[in-house]
Amino acid sequence: MDLKQFPRRRYTAGATPVEYLGNFSRAVGGPDIYVKRDDLLGLTGGGNKTRKLEFLVGDALARGADTLITCGAVQSNHCRLTLAAAVKEGLKCRLVLTEAVPGSYRPDASGNVFLYHLLGVERITVVPWGADLLTALAEAAAEAAAEGRRPYIIPMGGSNPIGALGYVACGQEIAAQAAETGLAFDNIVVAGGSAGTQGGLLLGLRSAGCAVPVTGMSVLNPRAAQEKLVFDLVTKTADYAGVAPRVAREEIVVRDGYLGPGYTLPTEAMVAAVKLLAATEGILLDPSYTGKAMAGLIDLARKGVFPAGSKILFLHTGGWPSLFAHPELFR
Ligand SMILES: Cc1ncc(COP(=O)(O)O)c(C=O)c1O
Repeated sequence: MDLKQFPRRRYTAGATPVEYLGNFSRAVGGPDIYVKRDDLLGLTGGGNKTRKLEFLVGDALARGADTLITCGAVQSNHCRLTLAAAVKEGLKCRLVLTEAVPGSYRPDASGNVFLYHLLGVERITVVPWGADLLTALAEAAAEAAAEGRRPYIIPMGGSNPIGALGYVACGQEIAAQAAETGLAFDNIVVAGGSAGTQGGLLLGLRSAGCAVPVTGMSVLNPRAAQEKLVFDLVTKTADYAGVAPRVAREEIVVRDGYLGPGYTLPTEAMVAAVKLLAATEGILLDPSYTGKAMAGLIDLARKGVFPAGSKILFLHTGGWPSLFAHPELFR
């Protein structure tokens, strides 16, 4: 798939590294674990949304937008990075935040909320969990338009076919790195929320001729719903790019056993995974996404689903600034 046909901004110089986690692999026992450092992507604090925003903001600018409008949970990495992209491009940014836990938005909180204010968010609207976010975004856009702005709506998590192109690019990048280094991975593990990362990744890998299986660790939906979300996005993205999907339904693999009591709610295994990676490799995970995905990887390694001698690539999608909103979990 040729991505040159799409408007794109660049927020990261070059490919993110693939690193072998020797200490961590020994501590887990079993497979050789590698990490793709998308936590080192550009914009404030890095993470997977930076790749999606290259294409989303490229599209927004091509359409003459001057105000980005998006939504997310209270401690949203996607909102932080959309705002960071707006700052870099000289655009304004307005956020709609939804409270998974009622009353959890506090303007004086740390983590991403602190960064929204430091980066100069123009307006924050808070809506209850379960509110219709499409309507809330449309209302925020109508309000901006009434003020003479040219708003551009970015959906939850940046997961539409335009945003997913960012992970098509990542899939192609991983395929090229695997070919260059001769590393043949047996599985790639990634956190799954709004599905653009897993969907785009699969499409990018397959379009580059790389057949490695991908395991999505859902942090939001039950397995069947999440697999459907990923598959639908793969289909729509392939359609948008004018290519054959080349990803069969059976290739969409999601596990939901590490989600715990719900989205953004902590689990013991997440806390243990965050602590172990920090203590063995000095790499930070986050409580809502990568910590739970890594807890899944550790469990599958210890159960032999990822056997000794296999090579597993963890796609680190970022999110560490939200650690600072919940220090009590890790003390
Ligand atoms: C750190 C992190 N990892 C993973 C994800 C999930 O990515 P996606 O929404 O594309 O499934 C998110 C989404 O917000 C995230 O912030």
